[in-house]
Amino acid sequence: KKLSIIGMPMDLGQMRRGVDMGPSAIRYAGVNERLKKLFDEVHDLGDIAIGRPEVMIDEESNLRNLDLVAEKNESLAVEVDKAIESGSFPLVLGGDHSIAIGTLAGVAKHYQNLGVIWYDAHGDLNTAETSPSGNIHGMPLAVSLGIGHSKLTNVGGYTPKINPENIVIIGARSLDEGERELIKEKGIKVYTMHEIDRLGMTKVMEETIAYLKDKDGVHLSLDLDGLDPHDAPGVGTPVTGGISYRESHLAMEMLAESKIVTSAEFVEVNPILDDKNKTASVAVALMGSLFGEKLL
Ligand code: ARG
Ligand code: MN
Ligand code: MN
Ligand code: MN
Repeated sequence: KKLSIIGMPMDLGQMRRGVDMGPSAIRYAGVNERLKKLFDEVHDLGDIAIGRPEVMIDEESNLRNLDLVAEKNESLAVEVDKAIESGSFPLVLGGDHSIAIGTLAGVAKHYQNLGVIWYDAHGDLNTAETSPSGNIHGMPLAVSLGIGHSKLTNVGGYTPKINPENIVIIGARSLDEGERELIKEKGIKVYTMHEIDRLGMTKVMEETIAYLKDKDGVHLSLDLDGLDPHDAPGVGTPVTGGISYRESHLAMEMLAESKIVTSAEFVEVNPILDDKNKTASVAVALMGSLFGEKLL
């Protein structure tokens, strides 16, 4: 069993600086050491080069930093693709959630029928037309469905990456109007905080795993803001009333047992907004559970 860690120090998909330091924060929290115990080989491939580009605000298109976000995601897609080709499980460290555009572009070409678990307070289903912010980190799930600007939907050279019936959103509690409409129109499966409270995380994950069981691969896209800000304060768009640390560990442990997950990314870790690197530490602890760490 091989793991490839790819850092994506991207902060161009939103406006709060510091999320570009997410991969460093996660490494500082001990990701390599922790996961080395769970894989035969761990290859930390370092970071995708983002540089310090000028921030270009394309006000007219309501897609902040469109060209740079598209270009950097092309580079990420290539690295993710290579990792899978070499027989490795790709683990991408973010960076803001716009990086899911590149991750999914690299992953989805390897699967006919890829499932996606979107663990997030948000739907990230906006387009330039529906986005209240113009921030591309609020759009990657729509983009991966082939909905949005062609510079984004065509990353990796093909579109769409995924089908709406293969998606499960877990932890949603902040959806914009256009996102709600898209969820209804496409029939996307969503466990909002209401369902998590009502059914409990055990049932939510049992149903999610059953729903995705027949897929040939499952990508976990985990936005740390899916967790409650009390447990994961270092995020740019916190929303109160989120998934707890314990529930999240349970979710990861159930995914480990199910063995359905074939790629993953942990995004939106922003050490500048954090409390002594707590959020990166939580991310690493959750990765431990996802990859099969057990106390006894
Ligand atoms: N829905 C809001 C927007 O489009 C917030 C998106 C937050 N996304 C995230 N990946 N944290 O701007
Ligand atoms: Mn920067
Ligand atoms: Mn989010
Ligand atoms: Mn997100």
